[in-house]
Amino acid sequence: MKKTLLALLLTAPAFAQDIEGLLKQMTLDEKLGQIQQFSDFGFSTGPSAAADNEKQKERIRKGGVGSILNCVGAKWTNELQREAVEKSRLKVPILFGFDVIHGHRTTFPTPLGEAASFDPKGCEETAAIAAKESRAQGVRWTFAPMVDIARDARWGRIVEGAGEDAYLGSKLATARVQGFQRGGKYAACAKHWVAYGAAEGGRDYNTVDVSERALREVYFPPFKACVDAGVMTFMTSFNETAGIPSTANRFILTDVLRKEWGFRGFVVSDYESVDELRNHGLSADGAEAGLDSINAGLDMEMVSQHIAQNGAALIRSGKLQQSTVDEAVRRILRVKKQLGLWENPYTDEAPEQSVLKDPAHRALARTSAARSLVLLKNDKNVLPLQSPKNILVVGPLGDNQADLLGPWHGDGRKEEVITLLQGLKNRYPNATVTFQKGCDFKGPVETLNLAGADVVIVAVGEAEAMSGEARSRSMIGLPGEQEALVKQVHNSGKPYVVTLFNGRPLALGWVAENCPTLLECWFPGSEAGNAVADVLSGDVNPGAKLPVSFPRNVGQCPIYYNHKNTGRPANLRPEYVSTYVDVDNSPQYRFGYGLSYTTFKIDGVVVAADHTVTATVTNTGTREGDEVVQLYIRDKVASVTRPVRELRGFQRVALKPGASQTVKFPLGDRELGFYDRAMRWTVEPGEFEVYVGNSSEAPKATSFFIQ
Ligand code: NOJ
Repeated sequence: MKKTLLALLLTAPAFAQDIEGLLKQMTLDEKLGQIQQFSDFGFSTGPSAAADNEKQKERIRKGGVGSILNCVGAKWTNELQREAVEKSRLKVPILFGFDVIHGHRTTFPTPLGEAASFDPKGCEETAAIAAKESRAQGVRWTFAPMVDIARDARWGRIVEGAGEDAYLGSKLATARVQGFQRGGKYAACAKHWVAYGAAEGGRDYNTVDVSERALREVYFPPFKACVDAGVMTFMTSFNETAGIPSTANRFILTDVLRKEWGFRGFVVSDYESVDELRNHGLSADGAEAGLDSINAGLDMEMVSQHIAQNGAALIRSGKLQQSTVDEAVRRILRVKKQLGLWENPYTDEAPEQSVLKDPAHRALARTSAARSLVLLKNDKNVLPLQSPKNILVVGPLGDNQADLLGPWHGDGRKEEVITLLQGLKNRYPNATVTFQKGCDFKGPVETLNLAGADVVIVAVGEAEAMSGEARSRSMIGLPGEQEALVKQVHNSGKPYVVTLFNGRPLALGWVAENCPTLLECWFPGSEAGNAVADVLSGDVNPGAKLPVSFPRNVGQCPIYYNHKNTGRPANLRPEYVSTYVDVDNSPQYRFGYGLSYTTFKIDGVVVAADHTVTATVTNTGTREGDEVVQLYIRDKVASVTRPVRELRGFQRVALKPGASQTVKFPLGDRELGFYDRAMRWTVEPGEFEVYVGNSSEAPKATSFFIQ
């Protein structure tokens, strides 16, 4: 009788979800299995594929697989899950993870581009749809949002984040976590913890050495925002900070994340970053790498297997406590429970394709892309296009599907991308729309035949593979001979527009100085061509703003608007001040900048007694449009030097011609404070300057005092 009851209890979901009870049942090997994440199960090909698959299933049946990444598809994930929940001893479900970074099958703009929309609600929606699509394919966990602050355009992974500003980055991080985790059955992952974007020289994976103050003021806030939004997991970064690689950094994994912030989810390493502790020179061998990482507070190891393979011996030697292993497993099981994996371990196979191809998702891709396009210049009012009859599209990105998806495009398919050429044909069915490539990302420029065109749309920028992981560039101009292509069009005297497709801020040099019309399009995703045509035609009035500074040349990197004043600021006197002798300090295009086809006035700035700042924005032009009202503050004198200004509020407002709206920005302790010399959050008495406008050069509106 007793035995039957026990057997019943063992299979009953209620028991399985009693994590402490489950932990008591687990052997050490089963526990170490939970800590292990494998990649690419089922992707072996060739004669050994069947045997390989069987080996992997056997591993699952033995309870040796806590999580799998890069394994997508309802049928296949179900097949593997069945081995875990029906054939393993304790029936602990597998957690399937995937890089669902900016959409899944439907691809939205790359995150840096989407950040330009200054639209948290929009970012939440695209994240929710990305989760829904990947969820339909068995994925329950995305390795997103990537919330690394990045101030150096050389770093290829700047494309994956929200840009240079911790305040904007935090708002978008919150939105993305809420979107991914909407409904509570899908886990987001705040990555890469931490300061990965501060890599020396902008070279990926490179050394980081920043102060605790920089960590707390610049790099931590978006991660804290994720914790506050309930993010279920974190991923460590590849880099070291001040001598300690993140994957073995107790200060960040335990002291800050657990003790200060109370994070209760689990932390996964990055791909083989446990193993890489040996290359860092921190751990002598694999066993030590496993020990160093789990003892610092890591819970799950991605791909390398040092914790799983050495855990038992490490416990026997007394170097690793059983309780440390238990705690890591507890955290992993807690997330699995939260996701409802015991109740719903499988994915319904029937709706998979219809979810992936939902037209509503494509519609959202088009809107979100159009809302992310930044109008950098429109000096001759070539835009919006005036009923063109003969449009010539030129450049390597003009009739290009693959590159417009951008890096980390999940399950996005290039054959489903609307090219710029196609988008213009769709928008102007009665016009002649033709294409000449002119040049590629490298190699020579051909002579264009521009006769007959009433307007030329030049599509230049980066190939997808020029930004993203391991895609740092030491020169960040237009690649290859593209500038020569632009010059050819420029010299023809024809009206033209330069559309830019890129993952990072480019140093545009001659193009920025001489081309009258520039539209920054980023990598817009599946609906690229339609979205760009929406803006070129004026069906959508551009309202996005740069989430990152565009340098004049690469030598200005790192460059960001919220820098310190220094003791010798550039405006102090002509010489012996903090400037270059060969270039101005200002960026080519500043953070928060972007034009519209209409004009706006922002005025009536008032600060209430509770420090709420109110301003009025009016559409003073003749077209409906969006303006992003931005509030910056400066703490003039403090016990620790403060930036020349810091974004502390923004709101994207849609207005009809002549219409006005009042916007309010409450300023509380979180907006006004900083870390004092003892690293305690404080608001110090004194004067605060208030800047309100439509970019980081917003004029000073007023100031107020805190007594
Ligand atoms: C390495 C990347 O750094 C990380 O962002 C990604 O999530 C993992 N690989 C998994 O693909």
